[in-house]
Amino acid sequence: MGNIVFVAKETTGNETRVAASVETVKKMRSFGLDVIVETDAGKLSRIPDSEYQAVGARIGPVDAAASADIVLKVRRPTEAEISAYRSGAVVIAIMDPYGNDEPIAGMAKAGLSTFAMELMPRITRAQSMDVLSSQANLAGYQAVIEAAVVYDRAMPMMMTAAGTVPAAKVFVMGAGVAGLQAIATARRLGAAVSATDVRPAAKEQVASLGAKFIAVEDDEFRAAETAGGYAKEMSGEYQAKQAALVAEHIAKQDIVITTALIPGRPAPRLVSRDMLKSMKPGAVAVDLAVERGGNIEGVKPGKVADVDGVRVIGFANMAGRIAASASALYAKNIVTFLETMIDKETKAIMVNLDDELIKATILTHAGAVVHPAFGGASKGDN
Ligand code: NAI
Repeated sequence: MGNIVFVAKETTGNETRVAASVETVKKMRSFGLDVIVETDAGKLSRIPDSEYQAVGARIGPVDAAASADIVLKVRRPTEAEISAYRSGAVVIAIMDPYGNDEPIAGMAKAGLSTFAMELMPRITRAQSMDVLSSQANLAGYQAVIEAAVVYDRAMPMMMTAAGTVPAAKVFVMGAGVAGLQAIATARRLGAAVSATDVRPAAKEQVASLGAKFIAVEDDEFRAAETAGGYAKEMSGEYQAKQAALVAEHIAKQDIVITTALIPGRPAPRLVSRDMLKSMKPGAVAVDLAVERGGNIEGVKPGKVADVDGVRVIGFANMAGRIAASASALYAKNIVTFLETMIDKETKAIMVNLDDELIKATILTHAGAVVHPAFGGASKGDN
C-alpha cells in the first residue's frame, strides 16, 4: 500500500465543505494512495460515505488521522486536530495565515509540513489549483442569489398586463473573480448592473459583461495594480474621491454587492452608514469581505442586519452556502496540487522544496515556520 491520505471532516466555523469528492478519491487511488475519509466528512456537501467507499476509500473515525501521511482539509487544523496528526505528516488546507502566527507556529512545533492553498501563485501551471478563484467565483454567484432572496422585488424588468416591474439596479464593488461572477449572475437575472474597481484592467472586463464601469480614473488608479494582479491599498486622498463618487451612485441603487479585498490587509471600507441611508426603501447589500473586516459599515458577521434601513447580508463563508459545488471544485484544486507531490516511480509523497508551487505555499516544514512572509528565513526570492 502507498501513502495514506486522510480526508478530515471539518470541525470549525460551521464549515460545510469537504476536501475530497468522489472524483478526486478515484484520482488519489489511481496515484496509488490509500484513502481514508472520516465518517460523514462529505455529508454537508451531499456526498455520502457510501459514495466514497464505492470508489475505494475506507471510512474511518477521526483517530485514523494518526496513521496518515497526508491530511486534506478545507480549514487550518485546530490544536486538537493537530495533536491527532503524526509528526512529519503533510497537511493541505486553506490556512488563513495572515495574522495567525501562533497557530502556524503550533503546526511547525507539531512537525507538520503544511501548505496554504490560497498562496498558490496565479500562474498558468497552477490555474487548476487556484482555490481563491474557484471559491470566489461561486461566492460571487451566491451573493447575488442571497440578495435576490431578501430583495422584495423582482430582479428582471417584467412588462405585464398588470403593469411594469422595473429591473433592479445592482452595483458591484470590486471586480475581481467574485465581483465579475456577481456581475454576470445579476445580468443573467436581468438586473441593470454597474461596477467599480481600483484596477484599470477591471474596466474592460466589466464592460465585456455588459455592465457600466464607475471609477475615479486618476493617475493613482492607473498605477493601482500590482505585478501580481492585485489591488494596492489606496491613498486617503483617492479614497475620499472614490467615496464621493460612490455616494452619488449608490443612492440610486437597489442592491450593492461588495467584494473588495487587498491581500494581507484589512478590507477597505467602501460603504458608509450615510451611503446606506441614502439608498431606496427595500435596498439590500451583501458584504463578501466580511471575514476580513468588511467593506460596509455596520455589517454583522453571519447575519442579515438592518443597518439604517438597508438589509446588509454579512454571511461568512459564502462559498460554503453552495457547498456541493464548492467542494467539487476545491477537491479538484487540492488533488491537482497533491499530484505534483507524488513521486511517479515510488508513489510516495516527496516535498520538493525547490518547486515554485511548494515554495509559494509551504508554511511549516521540519519543525519550523519556513514561509518568509510568516516569519520563516527568507531565501531572498520573495
Ligand atoms: P481580490 O479578492 O484580492 O479583490 C477583489 C477585488 O477588489 C479586486 O478586483 C480588487 O482590485 C478590488 N479592490 C481592492 N480594493 C478596492 C477598492 N478600494 N475599491 C474598489 N475595488 C477594490 O482579487 P481577486 O478576485 O483574487 O483577483 C485579483 C486579480 O487576479 C484580478 O486581476 C484577477 O483577474 C486576477 N486573477 C488572475 C488569475 C491567474 O492569472 N491565474 C486567476 C484569478 C484571478
